[in-house]
Amino acid sequence: MKTIAEIQNEILRLKKEKDICILAHSYQAREILEVADFTGDSYKLSVDAANVKNQNIIMSGVRFMAETCKILSPEKRVFLPNPDAGCQMADQMDKELISEVKKQYPDHTVVAYINTTADLKTICDVCVTSSSAVDICKKIDNDKLLFIPDCNLGAFVQKQLPDKSLKLLSGGCPIHACVNPDDVKKARELHPGAELLVHPECKPEVCELADYVGSTSGIMNYAINSDKKDFIIGTEISIQEHLQYICPNKNFYYLTNKLICPNMRTTTLYDLYHCVKGESGEEIILSDDTIRDAKKCIDEMIRLGN
Ligand code: 13P
Ligand code: SF4
Repeated sequence: MKTIAEIQNEILRLKKEKDICILAHSYQAREILEVADFTGDSYKLSVDAANVKNQNIIMSGVRFMAETCKILSPEKRVFLPNPDAGCQMADQMDKELISEVKKQYPDHTVVAYINTTADLKTICDVCVTSSSAVDICKKIDNDKLLFIPDCNLGAFVQKQLPDKSLKLLSGGCPIHACVNPDDVKKARELHPGAELLVHPECKPEVCELADYVGSTSGIMNYAINSDKKDFIIGTEISIQEHLQYICPNKNFYYLTNKLICPNMRTTTLYDLYHCVKGESGEEIILSDDTIRDAKKCIDEMIRLGN
């Protein structure tokens, strides 16, 4: 039986030999982040994916992230190490449903959170991520926006941009949406004086109680650069674990142990290892039409995000 360090060394050797670039979302386990070429939130990974030089990309994250890589680098082979790693939010709304909704709001710009399928992106105007949503929505040359699928992120954007009118649907991340103000009360009682940092996928009544609201990278950068010592982390529990490892002299507490995304935890170092060896994992295959049409709204996100 190989040790974690031995498997990591094998992965590092094989990825060089096979011209593979590994991208890993910040929610992935530390042993995966350690062997990745690029790590970060979904916005940073999209920009990184567009600039990869290698012929092969492995996206250690969830399916919509691997699809985004394929859309941005169609000439490359893109793999998802564990095909079961989906995203419950991305699976909530499909092209057929949104085509119907669009008919009711013909003068609205359709803004898709990047947590959507490639197929749905083909009929959207611009993508956003949690770190770029406010900035990009502000720059869109239309005050009427149909924002899908996350109504919590949409409500957060609406609050920052009162001059825009956002039409929201009732979608969202079931993991972040299960956090309640009561969880905040309990965590604040347990850790008095700690700052509360939450992801905008949490409900508005939870975001209102936070000291900072931002993407996974936003939360990490805020905590790393802050003079404060104690933090309650309101996003997937992995971020609390990573921060505690990066900043051993600070204290990080999770807001609630309900914040566990089974999809993000599906991929293991072994899955990555077998994928690098070419033994398992799924190659992302999208039709030329899907890539062409979905790319428009991702390109628009990157253009407006610059
Ligand atoms: P980020 O945009 O912060 O990477 O979040 C992606 C995500 O799926 C959060 O649940
Ligand atoms: Fe999807 Fe929520 Fe998991 Fe993020 S935390 S990948 S939005 S299910």
